[in-house]
Amino acid sequence: EKIEVDPPKPGEVRIKIISSGICGTDKHILEGKDKVPLPAILGHEGAGIVESIGEGVTSVKPGDKVLMFPVPECRECSSCLHPKGNFCLKEKVIPPTGLMLDGTSRFTCRGRKIYHLYGTSTFTEYTVVHEIAVGKIDDGAPMDRVCIISCGVPTGFGAVFNTARVTPGSTCVVFGLGGIGSAVVMACKASGASRIIGVDINEEKFPWARDLGVTDCLNPQKLEKPVQEVVVEMTGNGVDFAFEAIGLIDTMVGALESCHPSYGVCVIIGVAPSNSQLIFDPLLLLSGRILKGGAVGEYKTRDSIPKLVTDYMEKKINTDPLITHKFPFKSINKAFELFQAGHCIRCCIRE
Ligand code: APR
Ligand code: ZN
Ligand code: ZN
Repeated sequence: EKIEVDPPKPGEVRIKIISSGICGTDKHILEGKDKVPLPAILGHEGAGIVESIGEGVTSVKPGDKVLMFPVPECRECSSCLHPKGNFCLKEKVIPPTGLMLDGTSRFTCRGRKIYHLYGTSTFTEYTVVHEIAVGKIDDGAPMDRVCIISCGVPTGFGAVFNTARVTPGSTCVVFGLGGIGSAVVMACKASGASRIIGVDINEEKFPWARDLGVTDCLNPQKLEKPVQEVVVEMTGNGVDFAFEAIGLIDTMVGALESCHPSYGVCVIIGVAPSNSQLIFDPLLLLSGRILKGGAVGEYKTRDSIPKLVTDYMEKKINTDPLITHKFPFKSINKAFELFQAGHCIRCCIRE
């Protein structure tokens, strides 16, 4: 569709999108599992160049290369002011309003209002984002590679480094070996985990997962008993760290039950369907298991994520293996088909 993108209002930035990753959350929204205001421009994992800035914007200027984040960092709210808090309260992220902070939208299509997604909306040539959700990155950054550092990479890395704090020699299980689960695997390996069990119903993901560091692959559909029972048997009493990177209630409970009863830590990363409830036996926690969650890996987005891009530029991290496919922007539907069919890890679109 041809759309109109209004100029940025005070505190806002208009960005030319150069590249965007396709994330599991976009798929869930298309399938109707995550409810957001519609019609909307999806996409929330983007890299672009600042085209113009609204009044009062000081942290970026036209021509800057930037990433945009689904969770902003206002640096004023109680989350932002807390040394550990990252879930900024300035914008209503969950459930999303689909609107800018002034309650209006910057997108119209044939005269009709179009909603934003998570304050980002990256499947468009131009978007408008609040300055508090934009981070300037290195001028030399390759946009079609670093775009995934705006959501998938920090979500997976931070779940391991910030939320779980995986320790050397530990055992881990990762439910879901898509883009996010694969980033989790990379970080578990970098943390020195001795065993990383990968769980997925799509065995096409297994060779990629093994390359990234998964030591054992399990397909729950081919097991005679629940996968969590198999994980507990394989590890003696359960893993030190479990991650759910699918977004389903059953696999969240499965991840929790895979943990060591006394000190196992389970991190929920996947976004569950709207209005669902997580129901499990509270005795699972009484023995000492820890259940945690976090958005965008608990990174303070503007402070920390541009530094991950610098780490990438300095070759301290290599996130390239996460991107298995790239498509020109006009083939976005083809890219989505490939992603929905499960034939890729991360698929990115670019100019
Ligand atoms: N059991 C095991 N694996 C499953 C199951 C299941 N019941 N259902 C789906 N999977 C696998 C898919 O085969 C896929 O490999 O989970 C993986 C999900 O990966 P992606 O679709 O690439 O999604 P990703 O971008 O990694 O996001 C995963 O994190 O951010 C959230 O909303 C996002 O909830 C989503 C999750
Ligand atoms: Zn995402
Ligand atoms: Zn804030």
